[in-house]
Amino acid sequence: MDVNLAAPAYVFGRGDAREQHRLLAAAHDPLTLPRLAETGVDSGWRCLDVGTGGGTVAAWLATQVGPAGSVLATDLSPTSDTVLRHDITRDPLPDGHFDLIVARLVLRHLPERAEVLARLVAALAPGGWLQIDETDTTYQPCLDAPDRHAFALYQRFIAARDAVMERAGVDAGYGRRVARAMRSAGLVDLDPVSGVEVWGPGSPGLALLAHTTVRLRDGLVAVGMTDRQLAEVRELFEQPGFRASSSVYYSVRGRRAS
Ligand SMILES: C[S@@+](CC[C@H](N)C(=O)[O-])C[C@H]1O[C@@H](n2cnc3c(N)ncnc32)[C@H](O)[C@@H]1O
Repeated sequence: MDVNLAAPAYVFGRGDAREQHRLLAAAHDPLTLPRLAETGVDSGWRCLDVGTGGGTVAAWLATQVGPAGSVLATDLSPTSDTVLRHDITRDPLPDGHFDLIVARLVLRHLPERAEVLARLVAALAPGGWLQIDETDTTYQPCLDAPDRHAFALYQRFIAARDAVMERAGVDAGYGRRVARAMRSAGLVDLDPVSGVEVWGPGSPGLALLAHTTVRLRDGLVAVGMTDRQLAEVRELFEQPGFRASSSVYYSVRGRRAS
């Protein structure tokens, strides 16, 4: 009997990621960048952005640290030649080196997230900051829809999305577990913040969800959705009265003791 012991592949690992990365930046940079600024990141700092995606966080960090500092942006699948191809589950990192490490929406995808967190902590310089920004997508209800059919369609889509994620080894509720995980990994001065917002047509959050119907199309069809239903989901997100709550967003900072 063949037994596949390999970890599941990254759920968004196929196809062109650039539009998804653009939408992620639009939805999340307004939350992530002010939190990073609170660390006091400044000229000369050495920074690491793990799983950088479109690289907007790394680019912002570069403006803060200037030529005296450095920003290493890594990704399993770089979309730019300024990004180092690097698998955070296995490729080496320097010990005790970085003043600031950021990982946004990466660890939820990695079944090895506890080991990866330990590696990130070891890569921090004494006194260095780790910021992990994550979501808890187990909370993401529809707030208002034109009729019962539309409400049920939204719920069906979210359930299908969750099934695809679970099959890929994603921890959908990781956001709520980050602060405890960071404390267990030895960090101090933990400072979690969380929030939700309401999404309507034209919001970056709904645009990202609409894009998910395309990006994860094969997986969503494999768990029972039809292309017609996916098209209806996209149409629903453009209805003026449609409103959904975002998932719960968490941004957690912790420091390696000096
Ligand atoms: C959901 S995207 C988030 C991108 C970016 N951090 C952001 O928030 O805009 C997850 C990113 O993690 C990368 N990734 C997945 N597995 C990885 C691994 N094992 N090592 C490094 N990067 C990984 C993906 O290629 C993708 O760019």
